Amino acid sequence: MKVIIEKNYEKMSQTAGRMVEEQIRQKPDAILGLATGSTPLGLYKELILKYKNGLDCLNISTFNLDEYVGLAPEHPQSYHYYMRKNLFSHINIRQENIFIPNGIAPDLKKECNNYERAIKNKGGVDLQILGIGRNGHIGFNEPGSEFDSKTRVVNLSKETIKDNSRFFDEKSDVPQKAITMGIGTILQAEKIILMIAGDSKREITKKFLATEPTPEIPATALKKHKHTVVLINKSLL
Ligand code: PGA
Repeated sequence: MKVIIEKNYEKMSQTAGRMVEEQIRQKPDAILGLATGSTPLGLYKELILKYKNGLDCLNISTFNLDEYVGLAPEHPQSYHYYMRKNLFSHINIRQENIFIPNGIAPDLKKECNNYERAIKNKGGVDLQILGIGRNGHIGFNEPGSEFDSKTRVVNLSKETIKDNSRFFDEKSDVPQKAITMGIGTILQAEKIILMIAGDSKREITKKFLATEPTPEIPATALKKHKHTVVLINKSLL
């Protein structure tokens, strides 16, 4: 695991943007693993800029980490909606190359197994983007998640539900469950970029850096991965 301290959020987004660009230039049909939340917004802006400046995204495929159970793709708080709004509607990716778990699938278990299979059928993720939760989660792998876990339905922790409630009008509207790629699924990616930004992440950043791999802090699983780069906003240290 390589740690890079970035001067600010903008620099962090630019570094991540350069790494994603390099991946696409090296392999125009790259398979990217994508994240949602506040952290990757700057990276997506960078990618849109790069696309406008000639970076071709026609042959890339993307797999998102997670989706809320019960939210339709059109729901403004769904991750389908987030991805369309913040990235996909601005670049020339093909619709059929976009993969996001379906949170309203009639058979959720089947949906999870199919998602896992779809990643394998595409040849696996070349470059995975991650953020981190205040409780150390990656995707929606909450504390206690096994390092070999696969795509599955999970119960969101109280902390995560509280953090997510800022996006919903009513607290009771916040989904309690999600589909998430497992930690084992994430670790199968060839390369991983973990981006850590936001003042609320100060405490978890210190814990993450200081702790040996333990399911209690799911992101520490990345310390077992050979090609993980962690970008940390300097203000958090
Ligand atoms: P954030 O969320 O980027 O909105 O801080 C990250 C996460 O919870 O994984």
